[in-house]
Order: sequence, then C-alpha cells, then structure tokens
Amino acid sequence: MARKIIIDTDPGQDDAVAMLLALAAPDVLDVIGVVVVAGNVPLARTVGNARKVLELAGRADIPLHAGCSRPTRRAPVTAEHVHGPTGLDGHAFPEPTMPVQPQHGVDYLIEVLTREPAGSITLCTLGPLTNVALALVKAPSIAPRIREIVMMAGAEFEVGNITPAAEFNVYADAEAADVVLRSGVPITMIPLDLSHQVLSTRDRLDRIAAIGNRAGGAVAGMLSFSETFDRQKYGWNGAPLHDPCVIAWLLAPEMFGGRTINVRVETASALTYGATVADWWQITDLPRNVHYLRDVDAAGFYDLLTQRLARLP
Ligand code: RIB
Ligand code: CA
Repeated sequence: MARKIIIDTDPGQDDAVAMLLALAAPDVLDVIGVVVVAGNVPLARTVGNARKVLELAGRADIPLHAGCSRPTRRAPVTAEHVHGPTGLDGHAFPEPTMPVQPQHGVDYLIEVLTREPAGSITLCTLGPLTNVALALVKAPSIAPRIREIVMMAGAEFEVGNITPAAEFNVYADAEAADVVLRSGVPITMIPLDLSHQVLSTRDRLDRIAAIGNRAGGAVAGMLSFSETFDRQKYGWNGAPLHDPCVIAWLLAPEMFGGRTINVRVETASALTYGATVADWWQITDLPRNVHYLRDVDAAGFYDLLTQRLARLP
C-alpha cells in the first residue's frame, strides 16, 4: 500500500519538481493533500504555483489548502532573486482553474492528522515550517500521530545560503523550525550539506528535456531559470536541487546516508538567526531528535528523477 504523504510547500521551481516526482510515484506515495505556505514568493503566488503544478501533473483532484501568509514572528522574507517574480519562472504554465479548499492549511493538517490512523501520515515540508509549527501549537495531540516529518531545511557544513549562517527555509521562520525540532516527532532532515551534492548539470537537464513530455519540458525550463543565481554564486557546473531530495528519500532511502543526532536552531541572535546547529559528533547529551542526512548518490538521484518524470503527462 502506498505511503500517505502531505506536501507543505512554497513553490518555487525546486518545490515544483519535488511535487512532480511525488506525483510520478503513485505506486509508492499517495499524495493525499497539499498545503501551501509563504516563502520563496508571497502566499498568493505560491498558491497559484501549486495549482499550476498539480494541473500539469493531471492531479487537480488533490485537495489544495492555503496556509500561513507570514512567519510566526519575524518579518516575511522571500527569494525572488532565485525563483523570479512569479516563483515559477522558466516555464509558461496555463492559468490554473482547480479550486483552493476553503479550510485553512493549518486546520487541514490538524483535521487529517486527527482523523487518519496514528502513524499513517508523513509530512514532507519543502518551505518554511510555519504551517506545521502552528498546527503543533494549536493541537499538540497531533505530534505523536505524525509518522515522520521529512524536511528540506538547515545546514551545518555547507553553512547558510540566505545569510552566512542560515538556510532559507529555517531563516524564513526560525521560531517555527524551533517548535518542530522540539516536537518529538520523528524528523528526517535534508540540509544544504546534502542538496549541494545534487547538481542540475547541463547534461542532466538535457536528459530531462529529452524525455519529450510536458513534465520534462517544464522541469528543464524551470531549473534552467532557477539555476542562474546559484551557478553565479557558487561557480559550480550546476545548481543544487534541494526539495526533490525530500521525495527521493522516501522513494529510495538506500541512496542516502546520515546519522541521528541533536539539531537545534538559533532564534535570538541578530548575527546567526536561523542557523541550525547539528551536533554531528554528539558532543552534547541532548536528545537525538533528527535523522540528519549528509550523503547521497547524486547520479542515482537523477536517474530516479528522470525515469519517474517520464511517467507523467
Ligand atoms: O534553501 C533552499 C530552500 O529554500 C528550498 O526549499 C527552496 O525552494 C527555498 O524554499
Ligand atoms: Ca521550497
């Protein structure tokens, strides 16, 4: 039986690819819902972008809920410099027509996690953790009912990407990340330490474009746009592909490696706000709250992504 997941996302080209990868694997993953959060671009745009991606995959049947439009405390921060003004620059999507559910995303998370059997739902978070954190605060009883939170978040060895110390998803709402890290829910973290090994090189994007379907063309176009900033910043022969690693972990865990350690987040310092502190050598005796992934088979990842995208329309 396919694993039930809810995707919480701020599309974003890499979020879009992660969504498509999940939707291309119905034999393994059952995407029962999508919740959208403000992040890369404001909520109005991330909601529209999520609609576009679901329709591209032919999955307008999946319930889509709008979540929080701003972080829990800090002022909003966005990333148009990476993703473009629309957040999905690089591919011309038709205007979406699928509905957005009237229930707030936070209330949807609480309702589903309360209704479904305990331990049956996995949350895949691809953006700031605002929705999940508020759901945990509003209804603490859901924490033991969540099977696992697989999050693209944080960094230790690769340092920050939005500040010298912080990764964007955590920096956008460090207080929310703190609530989730302290929740006791099983967490698997995909940090920049891993995603920086998964580079969308030209030949990999050409392979995806050559699939010849709508999804392949959209992914190649989107990533060819969003790679521009990172290629200039890092000088690598491709841009890191972050969010699809969350889904790939669920599809092929054997491609990944890491260890279960303590991870905390800085919320008070003006200098290092949003920095995740991974106790890789377990120097402290603090709870080992995170399965921290650091190794990945990048070639295998792109084989998986390309093969799966070929199954979409
Ligand atoms: O730091 C990378 C993360 O920030 C990714 O999830 C990307 O989509 C942006 O949200
Ligand atoms: Ca994202």
